Amino acid sequence: MTSLLLLPGDGIGPEVTAQSRRILDALALPGLSVAEAPFGGASIDAHGVPLTAETEAAALASTAVLMGAVGGPKWADVAYDRRPEAGLLRLRAAMNVFANLRPARCFAALAPASTLKPEVIEGLDILFVRELVGGVYFGVPRGIETLANGERRGFNTQSYTTSEIRRVATTAFELARVRSGRVCSVEKANVMESGVLWREEVTRLRDERFPDIELSHMYADNCAMQLVKAPRQFDIILTDNLFGDLLSDLAAMSTGSLGMLPSAALGEAGRPGLYEPIHGSAPDIAGQGIANPCASVLSLAMALRYSLGAAEAADRVEAAVEAALDAGARTRDLGGALTTAGMGDAILSKLAG
Ligand code: NAD
Ligand code: IPM
Ligand code: MN
Repeated sequence: MTSLLLLPGDGIGPEVTAQSRRILDALALPGLSVAEAPFGGASIDAHGVPLTAETEAAALASTAVLMGAVGGPKWADVAYDRRPEAGLLRLRAAMNVFANLRPARCFAALAPASTLKPEVIEGLDILFVRELVGGVYFGVPRGIETLANGERRGFNTQSYTTSEIRRVATTAFELARVRSGRVCSVEKANVMESGVLWREEVTRLRDERFPDIELSHMYADNCAMQLVKAPRQFDIILTDNLFGDLLSDLAAMSTGSLGMLPSAALGEAGRPGLYEPIHGSAPDIAGQGIANPCASVLSLAMALRYSLGAAEAADRVEAAVEAALDAGARTRDLGGALTTAGMGDAILSKLAG
């Protein structure tokens, strides 16, 4: 028996996960049970907190969790540590999903949909391996204090230990063995001690355990520029929590839209994975039924592949998305006019066909 916990969340989250649910139902996987729970702002509205103890326990007890998106202006005034986003960070930490896989792949049919020139991005296939439960998102001390002179001071701490670096780097190197054999590690070792340690530990791990992998290093600012100039130079980009957040949104535009990028957050072997699009709740288009569901559907495919032991079903879902795009199916962000459900219909019909 396997189980999938759906956390639709806020804004366009429920709209896009509804399409993933339709596809999951169409697959009719034997032995899979599906449950749903409120999360983020929806959970604040229902229970006063973004992540209840029940939802956290259900996530930890499931085989995989498929999340939509959380957050929005409605909860902007909620205390910082009770915001929807804080609930997401808490869930990631509780699940200890330290390796966040964010594939930025340009489907052939979408090369003209990008703001970059087609010849720059055709065939693009980058895999970000973003550290997800450490770094400045979680480092202490953190806070906002009032100084003796009356000024206020906001502060966060970027921190990484040897083991935190080595475990996520191990994931990147192992994935490199089944891809191109190349990893580019990205930090700012020129100005940050945590970056110096990151570079040293990643290099040491490669030398000790992965001598077959070609490892390069790049500063994060240069990486941002290179991702726009010549993104196909990259295969796997290994980076920290904050740089990975920024660089993956940046790379999303090489695929045509932020609405195309799925993700898988993985922890120790045998523990549940957390699957979610990299985009947010998109308050500017929420409720209109026009969000692109592809990132959610592709996140479902990653859940099938990495947690649910259904690689063949994952292949079918990914092929159906690509076939729908090849046939011209486009939501508005991709320059088309399909609704969210219309895009779901197009994917479903390719899945059946
Ligand atoms: P966003 O990713 O929600 O939206 C950025 C832009 O991309 C918007 O113009 C939006 O309309 C567009 N967009 C995003 N997803 C789309 C899709 N599937 N189809 C079509 N267009 C899409 O980022 P934001 O506006 O900065 O953040 C909004 C809220 O979402 C904030 O509360 C933020 O904290 C939260 N957020 C949550 C997650 C998550 O739950 N994993 C990720 C990012 C942001
Ligand atoms: C993402 C989001 C989150 C992050 C926020 C909502 C906590 O931007 O998943 O990319 O910064 O990790
Ligand atoms: Mn982000």
